[in-house]
Amino acid sequence: MKKIVAFIFLVVFTISLKAQLPLIPKPNSIKPSVGYFVINKSTGLFSDKVASFEMKYLNDELFLRTGIKLHSSNSKSNSIKLIIHKNVDSLSDLYHLEVSKNGITISANNNAGVFYGIQTLLQLINFDKKQSLKIQYVEIDDTPRYSWRGMHLDVSRHFFPKNFIKKYIDCIAMYKMNVFHWHLTDDQGWRIEIKKYPKLTEVGAWRKGSMVGAYSEQKFDTFQYGGFYTQDDIREIVNYATLRHVTIVPEIEMPGHSLAALSAYPEFSCSGKPVNVGVSWGVENNVYCPSDETFKFLENVLSEVMELFPSKYIHIGGDEVPKNEWVISPLCKDVIRRENLKDEHELQSYFIKRIEKFVNSKGRQIIGWDEILEGGLAPNAAVMSWRGIEGGIAAAKQKHNVVMTPGGYCYFDHYQGNPQNEPLAIGGYTTVEKTYSYEPTPDTLTVDESKYILGAQGNVWTEYISTTKHLEYMSVPRMTALAEVLWSKKEQRNYTDFVSRLTLHFKLLDSLKINYSKSIYELTTKSIANENNNGLKLVITTPFDTTAIRYTTDGSVPNFKSLKYVKPLIINESKMVKAAYFENGKMKGNPVERKFNLSLSTGKKIELVNQPSEYYKGNGAFTLVDGVNGDPLKHGFNWLGWSGRNMDAVIDLGKTESFSEINLTAVNKPESWIYLPKQILVYISNDGVDFIKVATQSEEVIQKSNGKIKIGCGNIQSRYVKVVAECLGKIAEGMPGAGENAWLFIDEISINK
Ligand code: ACM
Repeated sequence: MKKIVAFIFLVVFTISLKAQLPLIPKPNSIKPSVGYFVINKSTGLFSDKVASFEMKYLNDELFLRTGIKLHSSNSKSNSIKLIIHKNVDSLSDLYHLEVSKNGITISANNNAGVFYGIQTLLQLINFDKKQSLKIQYVEIDDTPRYSWRGMHLDVSRHFFPKNFIKKYIDCIAMYKMNVFHWHLTDDQGWRIEIKKYPKLTEVGAWRKGSMVGAYSEQKFDTFQYGGFYTQDDIREIVNYATLRHVTIVPEIEMPGHSLAALSAYPEFSCSGKPVNVGVSWGVENNVYCPSDETFKFLENVLSEVMELFPSKYIHIGGDEVPKNEWVISPLCKDVIRRENLKDEHELQSYFIKRIEKFVNSKGRQIIGWDEILEGGLAPNAAVMSWRGIEGGIAAAKQKHNVVMTPGGYCYFDHYQGNPQNEPLAIGGYTTVEKTYSYEPTPDTLTVDESKYILGAQGNVWTEYISTTKHLEYMSVPRMTALAEVLWSKKEQRNYTDFVSRLTLHFKLLDSLKINYSKSIYELTTKSIANENNNGLKLVITTPFDTTAIRYTTDGSVPNFKSLKYVKPLIINESKMVKAAYFENGKMKGNPVERKFNLSLSTGKKIELVNQPSEYYKGNGAFTLVDGVNGDPLKHGFNWLGWSGRNMDAVIDLGKTESFSEINLTAVNKPESWIYLPKQILVYISNDGVDFIKVATQSEEVIQKSNGKIKIGCGNIQSRYVKVVAECLGKIAEGMPGAGENAWLFIDEISINK
């Protein structure tokens, strides 16, 4: 009998040892062992003198979460000890955490290491009040993979109060991230007090209205909106962040995104004409003029900024600079001549280089968006790669430091779930899983070049985010996924394992009153071709328990008694499928809806001549014939996107079919550089080799279509159909994204009788 009890005990214990420790980011090495240490009122707390803030922080956080306040004591047993090793490489932020019968020891080379050990400890004791003070014996060795583990926040489009900024920094610190990129100035508001130029905040911090709803609706309210941080606020926040081992990198945008500054001091624009703080989102043509007076102004501003922020890097923006004003400015022509520059692009490079010289003279470095590569990179500049990863690769090859923030993975203003269930967002489709799948070091770089990749950062632009609750919802949990990408070992990454730990964190986030998104519960659907390309199959997946998926096909919301998903659903007629994931009989997350409209082309073989962008490749070419129309207001999900290239698709209908009309949808969102196609051409063929043109849709009709494009082609009989949607190419001056490649977004090509 004793043997049986001992055996059962061993089995139970082995199982519990294998259970997940709720740690994000996942530590490099975790060695659990049998037993628990219990924190109680007589547990002592001891730290080396140099870790006095960390000791207070731990005690305060413990009190907040458990109601226990520890007393200071250096007893051998029943104590928590924070130790900083002397005479070791203090630059390495590693820590060692040991929980044993004598108590808990966190040892590290520096204060940051101790702080990270504390974050791990807090995550170990936090999740279930009843057990919160019982900590399993464990030994953890841990160290970060990247040195730049960043989160950005745009406080220009919407302003967030000082106390919220501290909460944001707390969240950054909790997940062992260490950079807060504070986007303080833009067209729609200047948010930092500058003593020498008081009008920057008196005038530039206030706008007369704001855009309401989607950009395409062009609706505005007329409420004055604004706010700014005083220099005292900033000092308080910088101190708060520094203690939590978070470096704040301030961003002062130039030469573009400067309308708010120019509303206060129009003399620094080329025209000198009075302007108002921006009320619309997008890119403004009014930018700083590269005059000596402007440089003096910016140097004075940056001097005050550098006094306030001790960071090595100062972000100077550099993105999206329309050249319209510069092209017609005599002063710009003079500067171009004087400095022997080729054009306005080199003028922008001159602008950034001149600012860099000044910033370097103060012992600091500049970092800018990847446009600062154009016309030649400033000698010491670091690059933040946002328009994909190519800018980052180019900069690393030139031996410049890089922070990766490619939109498709790192823009947390994008949709994170099925857009129909989400609050209005700028667009895109960046799920937690997509962020988690991001690898910051491109495999095209050599080992030496890879050293220039400092890390990555999640960006939160706030055009469509006006409240702190909404901001938390967009940031969390995507930032936890990125935190793990940036901290943990690459070979340890496993999404299913991550989400199982993340669900345990939801209790912690609840207790901290952080309004996180539950989009991880949203099911993933994928249409695939049915046998013989006859209709479709709908595959539904979840990283959780697949047997807990329920669905309906009658339009009703699924409940736990609805049909159980056991295998891919055959879709051979137009219908609505709604599906959801359930736990303990309760729906988790939002249901997904897939509205199928079948046509002759649905589920058929399709090939593309030009592959779509890596970031907008949907479910490959098949996305265009998967029976579901993308929502034009919400690009990124269920769309294919090409940058500067045509969509050129050949559909094989399987046999000769009669048809008279082709329908396709294109996105029209100039503010995101997405433009309707120039024209659409339809060709047919009976052998898939020789095609003849049978129909064209003109630019005029396409422009009037608002994206729902119909192409009549008379009565046609054919097996192969080729549809070419011509991309606009380079965007014309005066339009958003001028001079850049236009994006072309297309979905569902339906061929109808
Ligand atoms: C950016 O998103 N314009 C850097």
